[in-house]
Amino acid sequence: EKGGFEHFMLKEIYEQPRSILDNMRGRMVAEKDHLMMGGIREFENKFVNADRIIIVACGTSWHAGLVAEYLIEDLARIPVEVEYASEFRYRNPIVNERDIVIAISQSGETADTLAALELAKSKGATIFGICNVVGSSIARATDAGAYTHAGPEIGVASTKAFTAQVTVLTLIAMIIGSKRGTLENSKLRQLMVEMENIPAKVEECLKLDAQIQQIAAVFKDVTNFLYLGRGYNFPVALEGALKLKEISYIHAEGYPAAEMKHGPIALIDAQMPVVVIATKDSSYEKVVSNIQEVRARKGQVIAIVTQGDQVIPSMADYVIEIPETSEQLVPLLSVIPLQLLSYHIAVLRGCNVDQPRNLAKSVTVE
Ligand code: F6R
Repeated sequence: EKGGFEHFMLKEIYEQPRSILDNMRGRMVAEKDHLMMGGIREFENKFVNADRIIIVACGTSWHAGLVAEYLIEDLARIPVEVEYASEFRYRNPIVNERDIVIAISQSGETADTLAALELAKSKGATIFGICNVVGSSIARATDAGAYTHAGPEIGVASTKAFTAQVTVLTLIAMIIGSKRGTLENSKLRQLMVEMENIPAKVEECLKLDAQIQQIAAVFKDVTNFLYLGRGYNFPVALEGALKLKEISYIHAEGYPAAEMKHGPIALIDAQMPVVVIATKDSSYEKVVSNIQEVRARKGQVIAIVTQGDQVIPSMADYVIEIPETSEQLVPLLSVIPLQLLSYHIAVLRGCNVDQPRNLAKSVTVE
């Protein structure tokens, strides 16, 4: 059942090229200029005219929501708020009938997410669900939605569900952006073509496995990790840190790289590994300066860079190269080495990666 893999988590990491493809199937064909999602079509006017989109979710699904905030604001120019479902539901939030609330949940059973969407519904908002489990409680409670076609996710640490969510959210941002006229046709077409290249590029990222295993062996006994990223890679930094905490029990924090100097920089010394996602995008130069700040304090830098980067290899202790893609699509690639890093560190520490202590696959209590 693990298809020759040692753990479900590793199998699911390797299923991502396939799962991302399955999430584009029938929804997008670049060559034919086809971009369509059933659940959106029905509520197209609502989306196009929405004052605001509120995303509610927990954990990894919340990180996918953060990526969507960047995507939707960037491509569709609609203000987005991303909320922890547990906070949203208890703070008397301001919601009305011109708002769209997107609930993101792999299991479709997360109690806080379900309660948050019921609350928004009672205030008249349109509720859109992005769930992986067909017929789940959250899927049933929504007005419309789009399923992620990731297949069953068994490993408690979410991997392929995250990239499936990000894929669906990217398509949604592209659809709304093109309907609203905020996303130019030429840019839309370029994103569609690049989206179709993503499964093959994820496949290339998976070939980094052996290199990442070696890096994991170097750092398996540390007690702390810092993950830094900016822009589209900020949510990926959070997700990388969460993966490591969950399955290896190493304390890890994800931060927007520029926030480092407002506190976490005090933690940096020769014992502190810092994973920096430093792909060639609009914040590249700034991230390079952040790497120098870490180096100046003797922190050990593990950098995720774009293939062919000429600058960072001379500054970082370890360099992991991923293929180039459009800035908006980078999370689908940059998260892969972080999933593999946490997996290998956990295995080397003898942890139960598929069923980490204290965690459940679906959190049906608040
Ligand atoms: C992280 C993880 C959790 C879930 C969270 C939400 O790897 O699995 O953080 O993402 O419990 O679960 P869903 O998406 O089922 O609502």
